[in-house]
Amino acid sequence: PLPPAFRVPLPLPAVLAPVSTSGEADRYEITQREASVEILPGVRTALWTYNGTFPGPTIESRRGRPVTVTHRNELPVPTVVHLHGGRTPAESDGYPTDLVLPASRPDAGSPTGHHTPAGHGMGAGHGMRDPRAVVTRLTRDYTFPLDQRPTLLWYHDHRMDFTAPAIWRGLAGLQIVRDDAEDALGLPAGERELPLMIADRAFAADGGLDYPALDPTLRDRPGVREPYLAGVLGDVILVNGAPWPVHEVDAARYRLRILNASNARHYELEAVGDDGRRLDLVQIGADQGLLAAPVTHRFLPMAPAERFDVIIDFADVPVGGRVTVVNRLGSGRARDVMAFRVVRRAADDSRIPRVLSSDLPDWRRSDAVRVRDLSFRAGRMHGGRGWLIGGLPFDPARSDVVTRLGDVEVWRLVADVHHPVHLHLVGFRVLSRGGRPPLPHDAGLKDTVSLRPGESVEIITRFDGHRGRYLFHCHNAEHEDMGMMANLEII
Ligand code: C2O
Ligand code: CU
Repeated sequence: PLPPAFRVPLPLPAVLAPVSTSGEADRYEITQREASVEILPGVRTALWTYNGTFPGPTIESRRGRPVTVTHRNELPVPTVVHLHGGRTPAESDGYPTDLVLPASRPDAGSPTGHHTPAGHGMGAGHGMRDPRAVVTRLTRDYTFPLDQRPTLLWYHDHRMDFTAPAIWRGLAGLQIVRDDAEDALGLPAGERELPLMIADRAFAADGGLDYPALDPTLRDRPGVREPYLAGVLGDVILVNGAPWPVHEVDAARYRLRILNASNARHYELEAVGDDGRRLDLVQIGADQGLLAAPVTHRFLPMAPAERFDVIIDFADVPVGGRVTVVNRLGSGRARDVMAFRVVRRAADDSRIPRVLSSDLPDWRRSDAVRVRDLSFRAGRMHGGRGWLIGGLPFDPARSDVVTRLGDVEVWRLVADVHHPVHLHLVGFRVLSRGGRPPLPHDAGLKDTVSLRPGESVEIITRFDGHRGRYLFHCHNAEHEDMGMMANLEII
């Protein structure tokens, strides 16, 4: 029984308290564990969680202040943590084979993915049998320098072949980076700044999550059933883990920090008042932080993994009025996303400065030392159907793109169907889309760009920050698991 829309209050993910803030870094601890969580009212849903909640706890950080997160894996499978949008040294970037093995049930998943016979108390002995298990870790420290533009990041699972179902089961959380310059802008803050993680899910009759995995244990056989190869959609839209929630607001400006954390669903968000009038969505930031100047949208296209930092002003909405956020691309109940109910008039001293930032990189085509062509298309892999970059499925052992630290490159990305393309480590600018200038929502510094069917998009970036082995991939999570990922080596 699904709840009526706009009845469940919008939850705000708890902010995680550090275990220590002394010395060179703030330290946090997160336990990855199974939990039974109330998502649909009165129903318990078994999830995989960070610290028992979905979304996981939010980590609040300051630019340039390093953060170490100790992850302990009490799930029945290996996991990998990636901080999406982080400018992170390779050893903490969550390469898909860089596993944190399960602490509680060491028999349940070996690095090879083979299910070993159920044994008890296997410790060092297990390690001796499988040479790769020598690197077994039950907990792992991830260190993030966060020496980067302030923005909304998110952390999520990134295990080889099983990222999509692991995120679906709940392994996703937010991390916000701030700095003094942004604090000084006078943007809506405190209770008038709302992180919104949007994700669709499907539920089985017993309240459990419904996902068409070939292997529901998520241990051995990756992939989804044939009809879902294009990506898995759910018919329930969750915001911060609640179905079609509602939030009470003042008649004032709000800063919405929106993440599309869906595996495969695209949105075109618009905010509609009771009178059918659309409210402006004033975009102030993109995936990698503030724009140079605000951009006003009537609707916002959002592909999986994209973030939009948006101001909405409820000042003209009568007290008692409702503003509904809908997805123009959705049908039936999947059209509704959430609602705001304006409950009081209130003073508002926030502002939207005409100049938001002046440190956006402004790379020119002429700065590029090379241009690469990369295609994102369906194809054959391992004897079945899959998704390929440059005609090849992901192989951790192959070098796909090798570039030198500091090089500026233009990438020409071409797609068969929708593919949101994400680069680890760097932010990029969109240079052109379909041979034309970028669209309004391509503004600013991005780390994920939505390729539309048949379209070619040019991006430009400088590969700086760290050397090492990184990734780029489609962030349709099912495509990612089924081959559409490649190595990005910075030397
Ligand atoms: Cu959001 Cu490689 O991931
Ligand atoms: Cu894709």
